[in-house]
Amino acid sequence: MNKKAILLAGGAGTRLYPLTKIVCKQLLPVYDKPMICYPLATLMLGGLREVLIISTPKDLPMLQDYLGDGSRLGIRIDYAAQPKPEGIAQAFLIGAKFLGDSGASLILGDNIFYGKLDFFREALALERGACIFGYQVRDPERYGVVEFGPDGRALSLEEKPKHPKSHFAIPGLYVYDNRVVEFCRDLRPSARGELEITDLNLVYLKQKGLHVKLLGRGMAWLDTGTQTSLLEAGNYIATIEHRQGLKIACLEEVAFRMGFINESELERIVDGLPKGEYQEYLQLVCAEGPTAYPPEPAA
Ligand code: DAU
Repeated sequence: MNKKAILLAGGAGTRLYPLTKIVCKQLLPVYDKPMICYPLATLMLGGLREVLIISTPKDLPMLQDYLGDGSRLGIRIDYAAQPKPEGIAQAFLIGAKFLGDSGASLILGDNIFYGKLDFFREALALERGACIFGYQVRDPERYGVVEFGPDGRALSLEEKPKHPKSHFAIPGLYVYDNRVVEFCRDLRPSARGELEITDLNLVYLKQKGLHVKLLGRGMAWLDTGTQTSLLEAGNYIATIEHRQGLKIACLEEVAFRMGFINESELERIVDGLPKGEYQEYLQLVCAEGPTAYPPEPAA
């Protein structure tokens, strides 16, 4: 089933005030690039080339100014407004027209994944049902939490439970078949007035259509929700980039290595960049060619 992507980048950003008074959370720096590059790179590495970015009416112009229509990256980016943060699942109602009869992957604009993305590609290949992921964290009460039965199947899902039934948080990356919009239309706002993503996942669970894959501990799923976790995420990216001499979530590089743009298109981008480290890095990528160091070496 053909799948399109939604990147949800709205919200009030209250927890990161006063940083978010100037610029929205998803444009804050995570080391050397804006936060939104990381989830967008994840979608692109999954092979998705049609993306709808949803944000607040106030922040949309700045996001649009930064990313444009995506054509320079060989993808297509559309934009839509979410006037109030009325829930993550509302993204599918806002994006209903964009999705048409396609399935969908949703990523939250403040979620950073680093590691082998096979789990995501496998999920995208599913024909029917939904797929979410589980990732062990120290503080599951801050997230959606999945509980597993002895057979490894998901038993329950709870949003920010006071007493979590497991240590497995549900990261902000989800894959759904084309019934997702229809299911969202039947959701009712929770006590905090939001269309909850966990309620949507429960619909799939009840229908026995929910796949939950555990992400290995070698995978990094980073949080940027608080000042401290934002700093930690930046330090993590800096550490890996410095060690390898490779950039994480450099969108132009991802587009090139995925074959979304060719060498002469990358050259043109490089020529238009301001002189500096980012330009020098992409010059190297261009000179080495798309397969010099694939994002994930073939097994
Ligand atoms: O990060 C993963 C977690 O994301 C999941 O484990 C939870 O199940 C899920 O509810 C969500 O929890 P958060 O506490 O992180 O949700 P938050 O309200 O902070 O929203 C996450 C991002 O989505 C945030 O950057 C703002 C954006 N957002 C959120 C809502 C509710 C929107 O753009 N619009 C919205 O209406």
